[in-house]
Amino acid sequence: MKPRRVYIETYGCQMNEYDSSMIASMLTGAGYALATDPGNADVVIVNTCSVRERAEIRVLGRLRHLRGLAPTGAVLGAIGCVAQRMGDELFSSVRGLDFVVGTDRYALLPDVIDQAVEGVATAETGIDPGESYASRPKPATAGLLDFVSVMRGCNNFCSYCIVPYVRGRERSLPADVVVDEVRAFVDLGMRDVTLLGQNVNSYDDDGLDFAGLLERIDGIGGLERIRFATSHPKDLSPRLIRAVADLEKVCEHVHLPVQSGSDAVLERMNRRYTRADYLKLITALREAVPDCAITTDVIAGFPGETREDLERTLALMREVRFDSAFMFRYSVRAGTQAAGFDDDVPEHEKIERLEEVIALQQAITTEINTELVGSTVEVLVEGPSQRDPAKLFGRTRTGKAVVLSRAEASRDGSAPTPGALAPAVVTEASAWTLHATLAPREKDLAGPSDGC
Ligand code: SAH
Ligand code: SF4
Ligand code: F3S
Repeated sequence: MKPRRVYIETYGCQMNEYDSSMIASMLTGAGYALATDPGNADVVIVNTCSVRERAEIRVLGRLRHLRGLAPTGAVLGAIGCVAQRMGDELFSSVRGLDFVVGTDRYALLPDVIDQAVEGVATAETGIDPGESYASRPKPATAGLLDFVSVMRGCNNFCSYCIVPYVRGRERSLPADVVVDEVRAFVDLGMRDVTLLGQNVNSYDDDGLDFAGLLERIDGIGGLERIRFATSHPKDLSPRLIRAVADLEKVCEHVHLPVQSGSDAVLERMNRRYTRADYLKLITALREAVPDCAITTDVIAGFPGETREDLERTLALMREVRFDSAFMFRYSVRAGTQAAGFDDDVPEHEKIERLEEVIALQQAITTEINTELVGSTVEVLVEGPSQRDPAKLFGRTRTGKAVVLSRAEASRDGSAPTPGALAPAVVTEASAWTLHATLAPREKDLAGPSDGC
């Protein structure tokens, strides 16, 4: 019998990306084949995100659209954070939806799909504090850059955020499971790993903290680079800063969401640090890791945010000079603490404030990237550039995208292959991309008399 073909589409954060690949391995292990086209699948799954209202509206629209695209007889399912939040309510929002599975119930997917094929629509949701997917299936494939989740859930309850409600409380995976999984990914070709958790700084496996986990992963042969996301400023420990400074493979890049530069707003957000605490961390990080790229998240238009509050955020951004930022306008999420606050910043004002934040960050990113012109950076080559296949695309250790011209690759004209680490000289920069040429290799510099 032909295997059933499953198509998976993913929205939201890297956690969802990770979960989707875990589910793909789980289902291929159960005899499914992966489909790349929903029009050619027997099972269509959408992994959904609930973090902002727009993200939710978008996935609901996409589910309805996919119902039309999927062949007659194919079953359609919603999984992920909207599935967890809405449960069986989703059946009335999306006509023709066949199953709903929340973030802690993925082990049930093969059974739920079988039932859906038999015409029984099931919603399996609810938090399971015992589920950390420690007995996850072995990965079937890996990207050159890939993700491994080390924790699930969040205990922080920032007042605006839906994540703790849809992902439940923090659970750390045993370090042995993480190390084995990273090794398995490396065997499949991964060179750059991002370790994932909503707040990796509170990782704890029976006393082993996140710095200890990084140490273990740093020892894995064949792996070139280690990154992690996300760090909550209240838990960024001196030990972790030392690990970033000392461990060879851990990249000089920390994503440290600040959200606001105003103490009053930070307090209402329940972030549990002050502007001064945050700035102290930045100083400590830069002292220990001088070339560290620091990136952040900012929310504009939080309830009660005044013009002065926004000015404080803009001033903090100027002071820290983040390498880049994810910037959002506040979106009310039902059930969160902030949903009960008076949302007194008019929508047009939120949009204008966000535009101001984005314009400032873009100017800072351009400035920082331009300062790199003339310097040599190490690029992990990923493959041909999509825009110009005559060139190569890759990333620096600090996570910056680089387009690499390979004309000067070397005298024999050979160019680095995907996975190679190539030194490159930055020739041009914008807010989004560095342009660089491959630095001459030592043997090319040595000249014809070398070795005589
Ligand atoms: N755990 C991570 C962030 C996860 S959500 C952390 O704490 O850093 C990613 C980002 O979405 C958050 O950092 C925040 O900037 C943004 N975000 C979360 N809820 C939001 C909301 N209700 N409105 C606007 N932005 C939000
Ligand atoms: Fe949300 Fe805060 Fe948890 Fe991040 S730390 S997921 S922003 S509650
Ligand atoms: Fe979205 Fe869920 Fe991630 S709400 S941001 S997909 S944890």
